[in-house]
Amino acid sequence: MKTCAIIGSQWGDEGKGKITDYLSAKSDVVVRFQGGNNAGHTIIVEDKKIVLHLIPSGILHKNTVSIIGHGVVFDPIAFLEEIKDVEKAGINLTPENLKISENTSIITSYHKLLDSLREKKGPVKIGTTGKGIGPCYEDKSARMAIQLKDLKDLDILKEKLSRSFKEKEVLFQNLYNETNYPTIEQEANQLFELGKSILPFIEDTFSYLNKAYDDKKNILLEGAQGALLDIDYGTYPFVTSSNTTFGGIYTGAFIPPSGIDEVVGITKAYTTRVGEGPFPTELFDDVGEAIQTKGHEFGATTGRKRRCGWLDLPLLKYTIKTSKLTSIALTKVDVLAGQSELKICDYYEFQGKKIECSYPGLDLSKVKPHFKSFKTFNDNFEVDNYIPSDDLKQFLDYIEIQTKTPLSIIAYGPERSQVIIKKEFFNN
Ligand code: GDP
Ligand code: IMO
Ligand code: MG
Repeated sequence: MKTCAIIGSQWGDEGKGKITDYLSAKSDVVVRFQGGNNAGHTIIVEDKKIVLHLIPSGILHKNTVSIIGHGVVFDPIAFLEEIKDVEKAGINLTPENLKISENTSIITSYHKLLDSLREKKGPVKIGTTGKGIGPCYEDKSARMAIQLKDLKDLDILKEKLSRSFKEKEVLFQNLYNETNYPTIEQEANQLFELGKSILPFIEDTFSYLNKAYDDKKNILLEGAQGALLDIDYGTYPFVTSSNTTFGGIYTGAFIPPSGIDEVVGITKAYTTRVGEGPFPTELFDDVGEAIQTKGHEFGATTGRKRRCGWLDLPLLKYTIKTSKLTSIALTKVDVLAGQSELKICDYYEFQGKKIECSYPGLDLSKVKPHFKSFKTFNDNFEVDNYIPSDDLKQFLDYIEIQTKTPLSIIAYGPERSQVIIKKEFFNN
């Protein structure tokens, strides 16, 4: 038995989907515990590409049960679309292999509208995915959210929708000059109809996971976004609205911190970011452009171009602390092959001080990054039983030594098989 968590250690899109899919082969249960369909987790198996937004990335494995925990914010329309995509890929979704917590908070049309109005006309542009994530978590905290179980009863649905709608209507009409949105009656009817296809998947996931844990099952926890987008530990206000770090697991899916054996920080060999916010190692030159092109760095959810920069050790060391990482899975090393330069940010200079590890109050827009250069490498990743060249090894060893954290997995291509596994996570 083992419990293993996958956490994005940067600003998302590190390759969590690929690593979760890989580790799911030996997992009994795979759990999403936070976020919503702002996530885009890509899995590529034998030229077939599937992008998952809400459904856990273990779904491709026949004997794995996928769970959507109560910490997730759940868009019924997006979910039903995703079911179709997964079924097109030949996976049959049933209440046996997919279970959704009855307490997930529901994303409504009003949340999506508010998200987009704020992005267009609000005081701070975050560069959100526009999926209504922030406004839905706000309603949850304000104790006004609709939960999945409410979709069973039209009258309850209308009553609960009206609670938060009264405030939102004032914002739509008086602040944002927006009149194009559904009435409560229309929204409730739509949610009620959508609910009919979703309710069979409802489960008391608290008890299900508690039993799986007691029965000593292999449990894999799939984080979404990345530690630097965490509402408490991230680069606030340019963050998402959930706890993407280790702490989100207990509150979002009920696996106690003491019960988690391994925390794998999925880390790109360079750094990317979508949306606004500070990014100390960002590249604005041809090298950044070349990494963006070779890495196909476009958002899996919104299609936006991802900003690219060098690997940032002060931030990685910070994530190791905030998520108690026990090892690192380093992804996309192949993208750095053949580049004209290869660098890692070793430390920052800030107000005359050397900063080797970031911390919550540090103003990342004001730090000066200092880089160490490495010899470039040009490995051929296409060979069977690929092993890294000495030049690449120098780069990998440096990360291990500086972070004092082992590299447990090295990924060198998008395919499921393109990984070097240096540690077995599940024995059976
Ligand atoms: P996630 O959100 O963390 O699951 O990551 P995304 O799926 O949004 O973005 C990662 C992208 O990199 C996807 O297109 C993956 O197929 C791809 N990918 C993952 N690992 C590797 C790798 O080692 N090398 C290359 N070239 N691509 C990878
Ligand atoms: P995965 O799971 C990368 C970013 C958005 C924006 C900020 C807030 O695929 O790694 P939100 O819509 O959550 O309110 O947007 O967070 N963001 C992501 N960036 N990968 C993601 O998910 C992201 N989910 C949200 O771009 O900057
Ligand atoms: Mg992604």
